[in-house]
Amino acid sequence: MADLETPEKLTVDLLAEIAGVSDLASLEAVRIRALGQNGVVTRLMKGLAALPPEERKAQGQANNAVKRAVSQAIETRKGALDAAALEARLAEERIDVTLPVRPEATGFIHPISQTMDELMAIFGEMGFTVAEGPDVEDDFHNFTALNIPEDHPARQMHDTFYLPSDGAGTAKLLRTHTSPVQIRTMMSTPPPYRIIAPGRTYRCDSDITHTPMFHQIEGLVIDKATHMGHLKGCLEDFCRAYFEVDDLPLRFRPSYFPFTEPSCEVDIGCARAGGELRIGAGDDWLEILGAGMVHPNVLVNCGLDPGVWQGFAFGLGIERVAMLKYGIPDLRTFFESDIRWLSHYGFAALDQPSLVGGLAR
Ligand code: PHE
Repeated sequence: MADLETPEKLTVDLLAEIAGVSDLASLEAVRIRALGQNGVVTRLMKGLAALPPEERKAQGQANNAVKRAVSQAIETRKGALDAAALEARLAEERIDVTLPVRPEATGFIHPISQTMDELMAIFGEMGFTVAEGPDVEDDFHNFTALNIPEDHPARQMHDTFYLPSDGAGTAKLLRTHTSPVQIRTMMSTPPPYRIIAPGRTYRCDSDITHTPMFHQIEGLVIDKATHMGHLKGCLEDFCRAYFEVDDLPLRFRPSYFPFTEPSCEVDIGCARAGGELRIGAGDDWLEILGAGMVHPNVLVNCGLDPGVWQGFAFGLGIERVAMLKYGIPDLRTFFESDIRWLSHYGFAALDQPSLVGGLAR
């Protein structure tokens, strides 16, 4: 039918159709119907050959005008539909960057790490720096230099893990306490010292209150006029800061360690009622740490003159103070890596106000 239409009418019809399509596929269908091999415009052009020569020029110009108008309209419409499609896609794929993120499963800080951080922060504020030593020690640093000679009964108390001899004849062992770090510090750097040494320690022992590997933190202060009063003040400040009880009562009980003289054990005041332990209240006592004035023999063993340098040392179990502060009843659970235990007793990494006083608040 279209063949019979005038070029003007054809143009008007096709332009109307083009304007009416709402998607690219329909537009393509119109293009094929108009400009395709068998399209109405194409046929119109081909019909030119059948016309008498005198009509061809005018008709040819009219046909060309149709073709141009339709091609152009299709291009324009295509541009508009493309832009609209892009707009729609952008709108659909839009991401609201202001929405809060979905919570990701995050890990927890192990109570041992948390406690170590707290201890380091407290002693750090008092001016201590952190020192380290190896887990695999030798007899000299772990015992002999600490005034525990070969036949000393204290060696039996330590239930040492011995390693095969290294060939050079030096007996290796897993350190039974962090005290060898005292020796390493004094032998490698000149005094004065104010160090703490947190780390792993090992004893061949395993029951409800002992694990073969556990953690201690050692403290050493050596200066020219350091005395027992400094030891007392330092440990009092520390215990009060760590347990977050300002008037925490402390008791210094005489004790014995081969490497300190005099030696003491430090107890903190507590109440035990109905299986519940309350720190800082009541009239009961709980042992917390061992301490004393560094034995002159230890200073001599490290090349220091006890007539010039004196000081104090202390050591405490990290699991023990973590259990007390955070109410963890069983020592063994620290090392079972039970994810339920870790998510219950562990600490969030980021939402803590400070290292000192790590209780989530
Ligand atoms: N090293 C002792 C222990 O493991 C603790 C301690 C350290 C005691 C320093 C006094 C001075 O039991």
